[in-house]
Amino acid sequence: MIASCMIILGIDIGGTGVKGGLVDFPSGVMKGDPLHVPTPNPATPAALTRTIKKIVQHFRHSGPVGTGFPGPIRRGVVGTAVNLSPRWVGKNAENVFQKGIHRRVCVINDADAAGLAEVHHGAGKKQKGTILMVTLGTGIGSALFYEGVLIPNTELGHLTLEGGDAEKIASAKARSDHDWSWKKWGRHVREYLQRVDHLINPDLIIVGGGVSKRAEKWLPRASKGVRAKVVPAKLHNEAGIVGAAMAARQKFSR
Ligand code: BGC
Repeated sequence: MIASCMIILGIDIGGTGVKGGLVDFPSGVMKGDPLHVPTPNPATPAALTRTIKKIVQHFRHSGPVGTGFPGPIRRGVVGTAVNLSPRWVGKNAENVFQKGIHRRVCVINDADAAGLAEVHHGAGKKQKGTILMVTLGTGIGSALFYEGVLIPNTELGHLTLEGGDAEKIASAKARSDHDWSWKKWGRHVREYLQRVDHLINPDLIIVGGGVSKRAEKWLPRASKGVRAKVVPAKLHNEAGIVGAAMAARQKFSR
C-alpha cells in the first residue's frame, strides 16, 4: 500500500530518447527538471535497463517507478517493439526492469501513459465522451478513453495508409527523414486523422508528441474535414512522464 502523498519517478521510453522526471502526488505535477538521455542502440533489454538505472540514480529515487514503453503491454509483457530491439518481444518488461533497478516498476504503453496525463490534467480535462489521443513521434501512438477510462493498447499508428504502415508517412520521424515541409507532411497527418475519426468516431482528438509544440504550423490544415474536435496536447513532452507515474500510482495503491 502506498501513501496518497508521494513522489513517483516517471520514465518515458521513446525510439529516440528516454526522459525521466519526478512526479508529485496527489497533484500529478512534475517536480524539477526532467532528464533526457538518448535511447541506446540497439535498445536491447540489457541496454535499456542500464539507461533506466542511470535515470533512477540521477534522481536518487528509492520509490516506485512508472514507465511508458513504445509497444503494446499486456500484464507487463511486451507484444511488439517496432522502434526498439526485437529482443523485447514476449519479455516481461516489468520483471526485466525490476530485477535491474530493485524498485517496484509498472510498465504501460507510452501513448496510453501520455493519454492518461492529458485526459486528467491537460487538454482532455473535464471533457465528456470518447477521447482519442494520438502521439506523433518516432512512431504513432494512440490512446482511447471513454468517460476518462482507458481502453489500452489500441495501436492505431499501424493502420494502413497509402498502402503502407501509417507511422511510416505520418509520424514526426517521417517528416524529418524525408525532409518534408509542414504542408506536405500535414497532408499525410490529415489523411490519418480523417481515418481514425471515421473508424473511432471520438468527440475529441488530442494530438501530442514534440511536434504539438508547433501545432500552429500544421494542425489547422491537418484537422480539416475531421468531424471530431482536434486540439494540441497541453503537457507536450511531460505527458509521457506524468502519465507513466500516474499508472504506477494506480497500480501500487490497489
Ligand atoms: C508502437 C506503439 C507506440 C508508438 C509510439 C508504435 O510504433 O507500436 O506501441 O505507442 O509507436 O511510440
